[in-house]
Amino acid sequence: MKSIVILISGRGSNLAAIIEAARRESWPARIVAVISSRRTAPGVALAEAAGLPVEILDQADFAERGGQDQALADALARHAPDLVVLAGFMRILPDALVRAFEGRMLNIHPSLLPAFKGLHTHRQALEAGVRVHGATVHFVTPELDHGPIVAQALVPVLPADTAALLEARVLAQEHRLYPRVLRWMLEDRVTLTGGIVRVDASDHDLVLGWPGTLALA
Ligand code: GRF
Repeated sequence: MKSIVILISGRGSNLAAIIEAARRESWPARIVAVISSRRTAPGVALAEAAGLPVEILDQADFAERGGQDQALADALARHAPDLVVLAGFMRILPDALVRAFEGRMLNIHPSLLPAFKGLHTHRQALEAGVRVHGATVHFVTPELDHGPIVAQALVPVLPADTAALLEARVLAQEHRLYPRVLRWMLEDRVTLTGGIVRVDASDHDLVLGWPGTLALA
């Protein structure tokens, strides 16, 4: 049985989607901890309601930033999870920690990387005038929003879109995409060689999101 640690800082809607998929599909895995960098994150209550062990590593509890990083490194070392899942985790992790979990740490970013790194990705997409936007699940590397891409989901950008409308459309796809990628990981279908990801799964040749789900021939 593989083990997963999920890191959050906020709303926790991806966390909820992952918990739900794991139960519905009886994943061969256990979520051994949900770690939040904010005590007041709505995702904390959500994880508790699901009966998961929650650990709070709030900046306010540490005199210096380094203390929070060290506590996180200690927690991950203690759990030694097969997978570390960043789900709206708003801290930049120390390089050494990222390297320690190379190939086992994933993040979801609300854009089609390498476009629109960082924050306010939906506003960035509208300002750039792109017609297609989406979400990316990627391995975490020391460079922010930059690791090898495992899978992406697309959404159209519509003429009447605001950043909020676009965010909602992307988020709905995130909730389909992330659990799917995690299941591939648990089933050992994902290989990372020389910075390029290969996925051995029939549903990898699908373009999620738009229009409907496309099967790639
Ligand atoms: C999502 O848009 C995710 O792509 C980004 O942060 C947001 C987290 O949302 N990394 P939630 O906490 O999962 O609802």
